[in-house]
Amino acid sequence: MQLSFAAPSLGSAGALVLGVLADGVFSASAADADKAAGGALKRAVSVSKFTGKPGQVLEVLAPAGLKATRVLLVGMGKGDAFGGTAAEKLGASIVGKLFTAGVKDITFAIDPPKGAKLKPATLATHLAIGAQLRSYSFNHYRTKNLDEYQGTIERVTIGTRDAAAAKKAWAAEDAVIGGVFLARDLINEPPNVLYPAEFAKRVKELSKLGLKVEVLGEADMKKLGMGSLLGVGQGSVRESQLVVMRWNGARKKDEAPVAFVGKGVCFDSGGLSLKPPASMMGMKGDMGGAAAVTGVMRALAARKAKVNAVGVIGLVENMPDGNAQRPDDVVKSMSGQTIEVLNTDAEGRLVLADALTYTQQKFKPKFVIDLATLTGAIMIALGLEHAGLFSNNDQLSARIADAGKEIGETVWRLPMGDGYDKMLKSKIADMKNISGGTFGGSIVAAQFLQRFVDKGQAWAHLDIAGVAWQDGEQKAHAPGWGVGWGVRLLDRLVADHYEK
Ligand code: BES
Ligand code: MN
Ligand code: ZN
Repeated sequence: MQLSFAAPSLGSAGALVLGVLADGVFSASAADADKAAGGALKRAVSVSKFTGKPGQVLEVLAPAGLKATRVLLVGMGKGDAFGGTAAEKLGASIVGKLFTAGVKDITFAIDPPKGAKLKPATLATHLAIGAQLRSYSFNHYRTKNLDEYQGTIERVTIGTRDAAAAKKAWAAEDAVIGGVFLARDLINEPPNVLYPAEFAKRVKELSKLGLKVEVLGEADMKKLGMGSLLGVGQGSVRESQLVVMRWNGARKKDEAPVAFVGKGVCFDSGGLSLKPPASMMGMKGDMGGAAAVTGVMRALAARKAKVNAVGVIGLVENMPDGNAQRPDDVVKSMSGQTIEVLNTDAEGRLVLADALTYTQQKFKPKFVIDLATLTGAIMIALGLEHAGLFSNNDQLSARIADAGKEIGETVWRLPMGDGYDKMLKSKIADMKNISGGTFGGSIVAAQFLQRFVDKGQAWAHLDIAGVAWQDGEQKAHAPGWGVGWGVRLLDRLVADHYEK
């Protein structure tokens, strides 16, 4: 799908998208088109339930007098509340509606509504973001009925009075969406295809964008003392990997980097603490944190962000076999702390523990943010709307929350404290990997991670178990399963605060 910006026009053949405000008030472009069509558009509105409410779409096929073969009237509400998020939703909903409809061209002629704070170029850019995000599909494994699934849209033209400014802003957004699509691909891939070494290989391919990529295998990790991560992978025939990505874009070469750490459990069977079948389905997506980290690193490189950043992902497969870790095992982490593994299904924290230690020791980062599909409990607490945020730093928390609001990936901070930490006391080791109870599971997991955060190190943990993938289509921008959640949020966080 090719996206471009041009001076507003009523377009050529294909679909024409026009705005209608609350109470059926036509925008200037819509009124022009209606005139050209001899009043057909207003007539269509008058015989329908369309009133111009946000989210409404009325499709008029083959109106005489217009070149367009179909017109889509879209509701924009009162207009004053029509911001970036609404524009993205609008762009996404149109591409979603027409994706497999056989339409090749879409022209957006959405006039900035009176009273809206959006500049014309900003409105156009947000329409483009929504349209592009919704144009994703994952059909690698279909051999039949492709016309049901494959997109037909070839060109999207967005009309705007300031095409030059929109085009400039779009370049960076396009780079970020490239990162989102990569994350979705990684999440959607089946686990027989995307195992740790294959994931690492795909990250290596990002070197062509200027990322420095280093892959550590099991022998390297053993030398570093990463007994916690290695214990998780030891029941799998697939070798565990730690992948380190670096992007050095800051003006000051030796500027401390920002760091992202991702849980990359390519498949989580639970290990010997085996999951029941219904809970095991979808566990190919248990590398959603690693996918988000890879996606944001790709985004930063592709848009040549003026920041030093590192991404570290721990890639393992959690499997039961004769060599698998047992409930009751004690492992020694890279930090030196010992862990009694009482439940092999609480494996994400074991992977992150060593990845966190490695990241802090090696890079002395400004902050470290880890992302992980860590606990089912976070969905009990927050549903599928927010990711859980845990942090030892109020400023970092606020910045993450704000960035999330801006781009529509929202987070909700949960409490931490000594009382929760005590729940990790072990009878024989420095800690155990579960509390043993059912209360506050997501917080207990965060407390576990915090034991691997150095004194004074700004840290935040995002539990993305509820948002990394979706069974329905709760997220308007994201067709299908893998969402790519976190790529845009982290990119925005960097753009807002760490590129000076
Ligand atoms: N990967 C799961 C968490 C998860 C569950 C993600 C459902 C997405 C959907 C994680 O490794 C896990 O199994 N967590 C356990 C922890 C428990 C054993 C303390 C859980 O949530 O049940
Ligand atoms: Mn698990
Ligand atoms: Zn897991």
